[in-house]
Amino acid sequence: MSDWNRDEVLEDDRHLLHPLQHPSDHQDPTIFVKGEGVVVTDIDGNEYLDGLSSLWNVTIGHGREELADAAAEQMKQLAYFSAYVGCTNVPAARLAKRLAEVAPDGLNTTFFTTGGAVSNDSAIKTARFFWQTKGRSGKVKVISRHDAYHGVTLAAMNLTGISSYWPMFESQLPNFLHVQAPYPYHYTPKDDSIGCGEAAARALEEAILREGPETVAAFIGEPVMGAGGVIVPPDDYWPRVREICDRYEVLLIADEVITGFGRIGHWFGISHWGVVPDMITFAKGVTSGYFPLGGIIISDEILEAIETTPPDRKWNHSFTYSGHPAGCAVGLKNMEIIEREDLVSKAKELGLYFMDKLRHLDDLSHVGDIRGIGLMAAVELVKDRSSRVHYDPAEKIGSSVVKKMMDNGVYTRGRGDSVSFAPPLIVSKAQIDQIVDTARDAIVVVTEG
Ligand SMILES: Cc1ncc(COP(=O)(O)O)c(C=O)c1O
Repeated sequence: MSDWNRDEVLEDDRHLLHPLQHPSDHQDPTIFVKGEGVVVTDIDGNEYLDGLSSLWNVTIGHGREELADAAAEQMKQLAYFSAYVGCTNVPAARLAKRLAEVAPDGLNTTFFTTGGAVSNDSAIKTARFFWQTKGRSGKVKVISRHDAYHGVTLAAMNLTGISSYWPMFESQLPNFLHVQAPYPYHYTPKDDSIGCGEAAARALEEAILREGPETVAAFIGEPVMGAGGVIVPPDDYWPRVREICDRYEVLLIADEVITGFGRIGHWFGISHWGVVPDMITFAKGVTSGYFPLGGIIISDEILEAIETTPPDRKWNHSFTYSGHPAGCAVGLKNMEIIEREDLVSKAKELGLYFMDKLRHLDDLSHVGDIRGIGLMAAVELVKDRSSRVHYDPAEKIGSSVVKKMMDNGVYTRGRGDSVSFAPPLIVSKAQIDQIVDTARDAIVVVTEG
């Protein structure tokens, strides 16, 4: 089907160090060569439904010529020029304005980065800067949650609450700490008069009090935890977190790297709970993965701090590729398509259909939990349903299901024994059926042999 030669590519690939590299996970890599809509094709011509929008990012689907054209036109016009203070460019300014239109009220200003982790690093630095400008230089600690994924730069790794990312990198920087996540399936509060959302919010409050509010700069959380296994918080959680952050003067950062750009039926996921954060971090869906772009959207109050600080105490933060003209042109076109095709509403609508289909998997004896919101869902497998006990990790049940699904033409990923789903927002009902049917077959084969 193509001019590529599998052996040659694999020979070249020996020079490529992959994310999360270990040879045991790379014995028979799939070489993807083409994408069209929800379908991706490998070098041997095998087709797969993309059940996870690749890495939760190809929101409007593969093969969109309009995005390629937007990049090409901008590259021909002005591929790159610095957007450092004193310079600007048309697509960056326009995309920042467009983001202000869809962001919650009071968040009107964007700093662009190149991805998720660097956006989170930028948000932490900005939170610390903010408190410095207020003469509160002791407010430096950042609280995040166990099971959270915020990326793996040195600072973002310390926010990330999935501990397998830590041990080999001498992590545990000072001033980062983790609290309980609102994980309804596994977290039953000791106090049975309150639910898991309230209890997890109280865990944040207790941590702030224990550390001292005068030492805490910010709390960061994904509106719905993604890589941690699609953990959807109870409805009372985010409003309570907002109250607590207000009470102790702690900035609230919503990490919308996965939930942004329509994934759960809102431009930004936190809006589902009517909560307005102080900062939003975003990446992935802003360009549907066609260009590495991310950023932070800051509140008017934070902007004011940046604009009124004396020059020798300025917000001295930057990246070469902040406001990359080609990336921002792709972002603008991507947002235009999301709006034109009404994909934010579609995510909500199709999400209901998807959840309904997934719930049918409940008849399988090792399906413990089925959860999701919008087009973001997971099925958690357990050895024993009544005790919710997991399989021994050595059994690799989750990864075996993912592999079986891949063999049967559906790509996805999981965490432990949770299998995640987040197809492009253009997925059809027939494709959803195929994804769920493939998951069913794989779960049956793996868990019931
Ligand atoms: C919620 C969240 N934040 C941050 C990141 C890190 O993004 P990146 O890999 O672009 O650094 C991810 C990546 O999956 C993510 O899911």
